[in-house]
Amino acid sequence: MTAILVVCLGNICRSPLAEAAMRDAAARANVHVRVDSAGTAGYHIGKAPDQRSRLVAMERANIDISHYKARQVSESDFDIFDYIFAMDQQNLSDLKAIMPQNSKAKLALLDNDAAVVDPYYGDISDFEAVWRQISSACERIIHNL
Ligand code: 4NP
Repeated sequence: MTAILVVCLGNICRSPLAEAAMRDAAARANVHVRVDSAGTAGYHIGKAPDQRSRLVAMERANIDISHYKARQVSESDFDIFDYIFAMDQQNLSDLKAIMPQNSKAKLALLDNDAAVVDPYYGDISDFEAVWRQISSACERIIHNL
């Protein structure tokens, strides 16, 4: 089974939405994938997603992400996952810095060359825009697997 990891900075705003959207896109396409999310930083380990992400996932896709728990990406993720998708260039370069030389994972930005901009200091409309961007990127990724 293809394994996909989605990564942002804190694993509380963007990547939990990407985890939910990727699972949802896969289920709708009848594609069996393993999906997880993580953060490059460890500030929020063990925390549930930001309440604005929880609200958007529920309102836009009827998905409850309140049980998700933030974790930090680790070197072993590069052996476990086939694809690791970063939200922005900073996430991508932080991942490259810890990527083992013999990594099996393919590393890329989630939305082609476009960053999914951090909505943490924004408002709910920024989270809605992140959801739209992430959900279409996930549909494309699942379609192209
Ligand atoms: P995320 O958003 O990377 O999408 O989870 C952030 C969450 C927390 C912080 C930054 C970004 N922070 O600085 O605490």
